[in-house]
Amino acid sequence: MKCTDLLIQEHKIILRAMDVLDHMATRVENSQPVAPEDVETLLRFLRGFADDHHQAQEESALFPELMRTSAWHEGPLRHMVFEHDQERSLVDGIEDALRTKKGSDFVHFANRLTQLIRNHIHKEENILFEAAHRCLSAEQDDRVVTEINKFQIDPKSLADLRRLEWAYLSRAACHA
Ligand SMILES: [Fe+2]
Ligand SMILES: [Fe+2]
Repeated sequence: MKCTDLLIQEHKIILRAMDVLDHMATRVENSQPVAPEDVETLLRFLRGFADDHHQAQEESALFPELMRTSAWHEGPLRHMVFEHDQERSLVDGIEDALRTKKGSDFVHFANRLTQLIRNHIHKEENILFEAAHRCLSAEQDDRVVTEINKFQIDPKSLADLRRLEWAYLSRAACHA
């Protein structure tokens, strides 16, 4: 199914950001420096790409189309939207921790967010998208793809992520 393939490609990008956030949290836990502007860049990525772009595609294109199929129950989709809201709150928590310079809060919210997002993506790919394969017709799939393609990825957000990966995940960073 083409629409879920597109969303899975974006999950891979979001999971790369979770690896960066994990490393940032480990550094803070070990009293190693993390530049505040790097956290701001990651927050911008999470809001711009993971939420305004990816989650908006799910909420405005895939989920409504699934709801139009008679075989679909509302509960699992409501739960996914609830988790999107939880992710937004945790991103706000990370921003507050950054503003108040509370390292332990940063580690707490970062760990909760990485756990939630990895879990959420696992559920979408292994349960929700599998069910979408069974429920959506080829015409419905095309309609979702058309809606998804109306969203443009900001190339700057991907460049920012690559820069953060280089800074936090490269061999040089490991030995810093
Ligand atoms: Fe989602
Ligand atoms: Fe997703």
